[in-house]
Formats: sequence, C-alpha cells, structure tokens
Amino acid sequence: MRRKFIAGNWKMYKTTAEALAFAEALKGIRLDPAVEAGVCAPFTQLAALKAAFAGTDVKLGAQNAHFEDQGAFTGEVSAPMLKEIGVDYTVIGHSERREYFAETDETVNKKLRQLFAYGITPILCVGEKLERRDAGEELQVVREQLEKDLAGLTAAQVAELVIAYEPIWAIGTGRTASPDQAESMCRFIRETVAGLYDGAAADKVRIQYGGSVKPDNAAEILGRPNVDGALVGGASLVPEDFAKIVNFGF
Ligand code: PGA
Repeated sequence: MRRKFIAGNWKMYKTTAEALAFAEALKGIRLDPAVEAGVCAPFTQLAALKAAFAGTDVKLGAQNAHFEDQGAFTGEVSAPMLKEIGVDYTVIGHSERREYFAETDETVNKKLRQLFAYGITPILCVGEKLERRDAGEELQVVREQLEKDLAGLTAAQVAELVIAYEPIWAIGTGRTASPDQAESMCRFIRETVAGLYDGAAADKVRIQYGGSVKPDNAAEILGRPNVDGALVGGASLVPEDFAKIVNFGF
C-alpha cells in the first residue's frame, strides 16, 4: 500500500523568519498521520527548518542539487551538503528549472544518480507544455522524459523514487488538470515504469500530481487510485491551506 505524500514546493518564497513562523503554525495543527507531509524550501532555510521540525513527522526537502560532490560551480549546492543538513527529499527537474536554468534530461539524470548515491529521495518532475497537450502529444512527452531521466537507474532505486506529474499549463495558473486527466497520466507513468523496469517497481513508485492543487480540489484528485500525493506550490505557503491538503481525508 503506497502512503500518500503531500510535498510543499515553496519555490523562491519565504525568508528564514517567515519559514520559522510557518513551522510554528503548522506544529499547532493536527496532521493526518496516515499521510506523509514535507516542505521543499530554499537552501538558506533548510538548517533552521530541520531544527524547527525536529520531533515532528514533517519531512524536509530541497529544490535542486548539483550532480558533482564539490567543485568550481559558483552558486551551486551539492548532495553531500544537503545530506549533512538531513534533508529527506530534493525536487529535481522542475519545469521552472528546465525553462529558466537550462536543466536538461541529461543533467536531471545525473542529479537523480547523485541523490541516490547520498540516500536522498528525488522528487522527479515531468510534464508537458500546453501546445504539446493540445497536439495530443502529452503521453509521448512524458514517456520520453521518463526514458531519459531514469536511464541507468536500478529497479530498486525507481521503486524508492517520487515522480511528480506537473502539466506546465497547470502550474501557478489556477487551471488544474481534471481528476481524470491527473489519474490517467499518473496511471500512464506507472505503466511506463512497469515497461522500463518491472511490476514491483511500478507498484511501489509514488506518483504525485502537481499544478494548482488547493484545499478545495485536493480530495477529488487525491482520491484517485494512481495519484499518490501532490506537489503543491502556491497553496503550500499558507500553513492552514497546506494542512488542509494534507488532511484531505482526515
Ligand atoms: P502551483 O505549483 O501549486 O502553485 O501550481 C506547483 C509546482 O510548481 O510544483
């Protein structure tokens, strides 16, 4: 049985003071223990959040990591640096990084391997642009991303992975994929993993939907059998809203 997993993606929002205020507020709200909850914060807040969430079940994630251990890569942060802080997850290949920061399937693949080497669970983002969906090519886009991004990973690694299906046209737009669209793509991703690996990996891999998930649409999307959670941007910035999404079935 896959445990539902709600991850907040804070993007480039919140100072450390604001992050700590969020943590304090969230600690005051009872969260459904059946659901895994975590926030993926900017690098500068991770150490403070790790301390703030100590003794709670709230997990911690980063939003990117370099694929080398160390080196002359000004402005970058490595997996061992994140491991030292104790992050559980790192988002990799978010569409904003692919679009604005030259992230490619090749660098995504290197980053996934690097994170597994350090025992950090990647949250791999895939998803199509609006014109590709309008052209009826969304399955092809996501299949190609998965083939390239997962190349060389073992079935055991893929079983531990989190994959977030984020249609780019639904991110920050208020335009959510319908529950049927979310379910059918998450099912397609699971079938693709089964084809590339095996049924055991496909059964275990957790597949989130992301794109304008809010308290009032979460239950319907998360109720679908192949949707194992959500990657939540805007609505994860407000502790009460984030908690409502975590508590969608509580
Ligand atoms: P959104 O962002 O929930 O604000 O649409 C989702 C994401 O980019 O992960």
